[in-house]
Amino acid sequence: MSEREPIGVIGIGWVGLVTAACFAERGHRVIAMDIDRAKIEGLDGGEVQIYEPKLADLVRGNSERLRFTTAMSDVLAEARLLFCCVDTPPTYSGDADLSQVRAVVAGIGDDGERALVMKSTVPAGTGQAIRRDKPGLAYVSCPEFLREGSAVDDFLGPDRVVIGADPGDEWASAAVAEIYGPLGGELVHTDVASAEMIKLASNAFLATKISFANEIANVCDEVGADVDEVARGMGLDKRIGPSFLKAGIGYGGSCFPKDVSALKMLAGNTGYHFQLLNAVIEVNELQKRRVIAKLNKHLGSLVGKRIALLGLAFKPHTDDMREASSLVLAARLQGEGASVVAYDPVAIGPASSLLPGIEMGASAAETLDGADAAVLVTEWPEFADLDWRAVAERMASPLLVDGRNFLDADALREAGLTYEGIGRPSKSGSPLTGKVAQG
Ligand code: UGA
Repeated sequence: MSEREPIGVIGIGWVGLVTAACFAERGHRVIAMDIDRAKIEGLDGGEVQIYEPKLADLVRGNSERLRFTTAMSDVLAEARLLFCCVDTPPTYSGDADLSQVRAVVAGIGDDGERALVMKSTVPAGTGQAIRRDKPGLAYVSCPEFLREGSAVDDFLGPDRVVIGADPGDEWASAAVAEIYGPLGGELVHTDVASAEMIKLASNAFLATKISFANEIANVCDEVGADVDEVARGMGLDKRIGPSFLKAGIGYGGSCFPKDVSALKMLAGNTGYHFQLLNAVIEVNELQKRRVIAKLNKHLGSLVGKRIALLGLAFKPHTDDMREASSLVLAARLQGEGASVVAYDPVAIGPASSLLPGIEMGASAAETLDGADAAVLVTEWPEFADLDWRAVAERMASPLLVDGRNFLDADALREAGLTYEGIGRPSKSGSPLTGKVAQG
């Protein structure tokens, strides 16, 4: 593929915009299309509505190579490689909703040498079905492994790039490899169905690791062990590895919940019962609710208690509220009769409409004023830098449940707070009997 040949990107959501901006950054001309006219007009003016570190600078800094349009015909007129980045949200049945993918495919003719490069997460078998319906359109599965909050760095320095193509589409997989090759990372050439499975299996495995760590933390709570120490000791075994063993109040976001469910349903639709994933999902659901018991332990009934939530986004460095643990937790607290006040450095806007009846604080310190307890929901770095001694003095009762095991427990206790983590030893009583003080 010639360096000057433009790349088409269809669907300018989070994946599409990162893909388009990073290709442009690497010197490619990119023509990026979305049906949302307001979004395209904003992007034309350099306005990036998604909170993703480095992204806005990349979009603005590469405006000469980055063109936005609402017309598929503009993309088809210039690009042979069409990167499909539309959303595949879950349907009521738990399957992936492929309607946007189908609309993209319908808008592309199968005349001429063109390839659809699938970045959207789709069930295994989707590529083969598209290929059957459009025999003249080459197809490459190139799943994305970006993490929100570090997507630009992940894109420009990938661990691996998976390129799935079936016989007959070698030119297209070679063209994709040529674009991704300079970014580094191992190129994994495989068939389309296997590439689709690599994506689903990777996310499901990471979610499994988290739910496993959370169950270990729950046992640690019972036996007085420290889950961080357990994870550190486990992670040094190269076969296990240290990542994604961080216990807390569960995973959220637009990807893990959706993809774990999609893989479970994909298996179920073939008649296979994927038992392990049922447990992964259930552990994740229950994990958010364990916070309530930790609050009850110190406060008794939560009726009328003022509970402060620190962080709302599903993880730090994003304003994404999709499937955020805070949503379930806030609703449960309200269900217990508590009044909930919350603060997040960037997600208050997106969170407001999702959290009716919840007061939003202007700062972490203000949110904690007068609270009967605080729950750290999202591990934003600024929460580690709070003046916790001053906070302890201003809270009605200085109780903190650290839902991400993020803060320094000893330092907080020294500052005057009662600290509860997830699977971190409590200092207020024997974990086994709840009666004998441990000092
Ligand atoms: C995830 C994958 O990590 C990416 O590789 C993938 O491309 C992406 O989904 C996707 O399919 O698009 P992301 O959802 O951005 O990325 O976030 P992660 O950093 O993976 O975190 C997901 C959730 O797991 C967060 O709620 C986080 O708080 C939680 N988590 C993560 C834990 O509870 N413990 C951990 O040890 C790690």
